Amino acid sequence: MDQVSIENALAGLPLGPIRYLDRVGSTNDAALDWMEAGAPDLAVVIADEQTSGRGRSGRAWFTPPGAALAISFGLIPGRSETGLSLPRFTALGALAVADSLQTHFQQKTSIKWPNDVLIEGKKVAGVLAESRWAGNRLTALILGIGINIAPASVPPADRLGFPAVALETALGRPVPRLDVLKSVATQVVRWRRKIASQEFLAAWEARLAFRGQRVRVEAEDQQPVEGQLLGLNAEGALRLGLSDGREVTVRVGDLHLRPVDSASGSAGG
Ligand code: BTN
Repeated sequence: MDQVSIENALAGLPLGPIRYLDRVGSTNDAALDWMEAGAPDLAVVIADEQTSGRGRSGRAWFTPPGAALAISFGLIPGRSETGLSLPRFTALGALAVADSLQTHFQQKTSIKWPNDVLIEGKKVAGVLAESRWAGNRLTALILGIGINIAPASVPPADRLGFPAVALETALGRPVPRLDVLKSVATQVVRWRRKIASQEFLAAWEARLAFRGQRVRVEAEDQQPVEGQLLGLNAEGALRLGLSDGREVTVRVGDLHLRPVDSASGSAGG
């Protein structure tokens, strides 16, 4: 990948300026800084390698050179988006990747709430939406997406908290990263237009992994909640059916299938 080939691949899409970096700490940091310095909506940062890529809950995200896609979109929320919470933007990334892999690469994808994209139950991509504020003014909103393309992008098994797979392994053939980039960027633009809609929520819910199964949701400083995964409420929170017949909604947390795999760490790379 290089600046020119990326610009050519993304030509024609209604994106902002594009910045390619051979190596960076985290594309999310580069994009946060760029947005704070005045970059316009849908500015894009792409890196070949991240030396301190991060995932949710402070976990490290593995991005070795030549093997993965690390993309961050800088967003300036429009009027219809200002009331939306950060998880809705996380869902935008997950839905865009899931749809892209399904429609462009014929992969059966699902979304492990809130932010993982799975192929046949294995994590192929993760999404990290982050924001920065100055007082109550939003200065930057970033949608960071990491996708395992070549097998080398999947961390060693002892560093995985959840089974992971590379797109090339799932497809059984090499995949040009620029094809994936173009397809995902197209879907980000498409779904963003509908981000506040019922259609968006329905599409997100339709892709939920483990629906109907018993799951356990763990969040820092909170008691784990176990129940049957019913779906999403209007805000995109998870609806769980408890064994006593009650229904609860869960806004944050990591989802585990029961019985719980207690391992933690990077769930992909
Ligand atoms: C997760 O699964 O916990 C989320 C992983 C998000 C990784 C992407 S790679 C591009 C962007 N830059 C980062 O440092 N993280 C995100």
